[in-house]
Amino acid sequence: MNMDLKEIKNEVFKELSTVENTDDLENLRVKYLGRKGELTLVLRSLKDLPINQRKKIGSEANKLRNELENKIKEKVGELSAYGRPTAGWQNKKVDITAPGVKISQGHLHPITRVIQEIEEIFKTIGFEIIEGPDIETEYYNFDALNIPDNHPARDMWDTFWLKLADSKSHVANGTSQMANSRDRSNKQSATGNKLLLRTHTSPMQARYMEKNNPPFRIVVPGRVFRYEAQDVSHSHTFYQLEGLMVDKDINVANFKAVIEEFLKRLFSKDIKARLRPSYFPFVEPGFEVDLKGGQFKDWVEIMGAGMVHPNVFKAVGYNPANWQGFAFGIGLDRIANIKYGIDDIRLLYSGDLRFLNQF
Ligand code: DAH
Repeated sequence: MNMDLKEIKNEVFKELSTVENTDDLENLRVKYLGRKGELTLVLRSLKDLPINQRKKIGSEANKLRNELENKIKEKVGELSAYGRPTAGWQNKKVDITAPGVKISQGHLHPITRVIQEIEEIFKTIGFEIIEGPDIETEYYNFDALNIPDNHPARDMWDTFWLKLADSKSHVANGTSQMANSRDRSNKQSATGNKLLLRTHTSPMQARYMEKNNPPFRIVVPGRVFRYEAQDVSHSHTFYQLEGLMVDKDINVANFKAVIEEFLKRLFSKDIKARLRPSYFPFVEPGFEVDLKGGQFKDWVEIMGAGMVHPNVFKAVGYNPANWQGFAFGIGLDRIANIKYGIDDIRLLYSGDLRFLNQF
């Protein structure tokens, strides 16, 4: 055993000056201060020394131990402050020719892609894209669309009604244009100001017509809400696209031409459309539109549509004798499901990455 404290001290400080990382430092600490460390052994053997030597060597050894402990603490601080690499870094090689690790990138949701694609198609046919508020008044969602209170047709839309003290202040304006005298969104009235989550995008027909004069062509994509049980084909939240074209002499043939052109561009050139009589309060006549051709071997129902009802024109201050128009409403989830082969609408709103990463 080396009892020469001077020599130990010289050795320790020499080694300490070459320490480059925390691993080296720990090795050094163990070598001198560990259970079998050189300095520890000296301290432990003191009891075997004659009393006169014990005092002298004892105090020197303790002094050295304190000094060393302080130095080590200091060094730990230094090493972590400069973030030195761990032991052996000099020998590790970096292969700069190795392929990089791919950074995972986000992407658009299937519904967003469908909305963008459909908007593009309608833009090229001369339609303008308009958006409206998710929170609607009873007036725009129902009354203005020829669905007055107590009308049995209200049962077609299971509605989320909102409880708010001051309903008026919470309704955003449908479009950015200034309100004119026909605009009802700022007027108080006894009925129709109850708030709800819009059950369809049709209220934007009324909002837009109040503030704009024909002729025009618009489409309105947006989120809609229904108070109903969820299953593979029903969700409380989904997306629609409303269409509206108003001019002097618009007729059903114009509608069929526009919608067939749209479907051809969205799916394939061979698509044909068929109109079946149906009922929606805001159109007369009303129809259900089916498509066939391309990937569709049989007729598939794709949207509701019709010629704008005179009562809707009256509600927004148009003279029904002067104007005619067609309107339609497409379920965008249905389009996404068909396009991407999705069989459960709920997947679209699950946020499940195992599903989303497939697109
Ligand atoms: N708003 C209707 C619904 O949600 C869909 C619809 C049908 C819209 C006929 C229209 C239309 O514009 O003309 O069930």
